[in-house]
Amino acid sequence: MLKDQNRISRRRLLALAGAGAAGLAWRFPTPALAQGTPIKVGVLLPYSGTYAQLGEAITRAMELYVKKQGGVLAGRPITFIKLDDESAPPKGPELTTKLVEGEKVDVLIGTVHSGVAMAMSKIAREAGVPTIIPNAGADILTRAQCAKNIFRSSFSNGQVGIACGQVMAEAGIKRVVTANWKYAAGEETLAGFRSTFTKGGGQILKEIAPPFPNVEFQSALAEIGSIKPDAVFAFFAGGGAVKWLKDYAAAGLRKSIPLWGPGFLTDGVESSIAGEADGLFTVMHYADDLDNAENKAFRAAFEAEYKAAADVYAVQGWDAAALLDAGLKAVGGDASKRDALNAAIARVTFNSPRGPFKLSAAHNPVQNFYLREFKSGANRFVRNAVPALADPGTGCRLGA
Ligand code: BEZ
Repeated sequence: MLKDQNRISRRRLLALAGAGAAGLAWRFPTPALAQGTPIKVGVLLPYSGTYAQLGEAITRAMELYVKKQGGVLAGRPITFIKLDDESAPPKGPELTTKLVEGEKVDVLIGTVHSGVAMAMSKIAREAGVPTIIPNAGADILTRAQCAKNIFRSSFSNGQVGIACGQVMAEAGIKRVVTANWKYAAGEETLAGFRSTFTKGGGQILKEIAPPFPNVEFQSALAEIGSIKPDAVFAFFAGGGAVKWLKDYAAAGLRKSIPLWGPGFLTDGVESSIAGEADGLFTVMHYADDLDNAENKAFRAAFEAEYKAAADVYAVQGWDAAALLDAGLKAVGGDASKRDALNAAIARVTFNSPRGPFKLSAAHNPVQNFYLREFKSGANRFVRNAVPALADPGTGCRLGA
């Protein structure tokens, strides 16, 4: 539904590229910065396909943040222009170009899928548009391809894997089989996991990697059943996580082989997996019941607005809006001051619903990773397992 409501029509794009864009001018007095002139935020997210609910949670939280500020940030109304990228990397360049060149957005926010994010970021980097990534963890974007105008409000894939490997090794798990989608997110999460899990004395017996967004898991599950590892480490998210959890339970593995993974396994899909996932341990930079004032206020506001519980994706969307808010305030709402806007976003620190938030020199969050247990439909805090974890930022020269 969101997809159809928010897709930009070809007619609108044409209108904006031509007479329609000029048509806006009479409604808003010059100069462009005049209070009342909207800031255009181009939003590239999946509103259909495997990651649709992730894109929707991010959008809801961003819109709620702005609504809570009376619809304005730094005195400027915010217009979100949303496109559905379907988590399809080939769509990234065309859709980003529509936003950057067609809509001439002031700022970009997107996306969920690492492959789409890499395509989007290449264009954003070249065009110099301040860009906030509210999920996609592609390591390279805050490592070798870091840029002064690219920021993340989420995580790097490697960072998540590093935290998971450390926590599972500390739990005394020795022999695992891994299962992940074969694309940047799965592979980089696995690489991070491998580094700390093997350093902690663990051994990976077998790596299983179906292509994204394949959810035919039967042969993987049969193999796991015959190998009988101490545990399974799995990276799946959105619709794929639901299918993986249901198939894992249906294969009778839940009782015999503990399933672990990044919190993407159980986040954003809570209502679909309530029966299947009780007692499952995951590691993530958020837990639903984190005991801090920001989290309580955020969850109450989200629940009141949407009659639905917030999740980690909503937190990342909320914090993307918070980064933008802080940046815009620093430049008096003038988004054309790109260097000053970028510099301000880079130095923002605040208390997020996830806990203390700041960006590394490479613009990736330095944040706590929590061990959580899924219980009664929620991801419950167990302990702050890897406090203030930073991605290594390998190859990034920002701040050097
Ligand atoms: C990614 O593609 O980077 C990603 C997607 C969903 C959850 C986590 C990471």
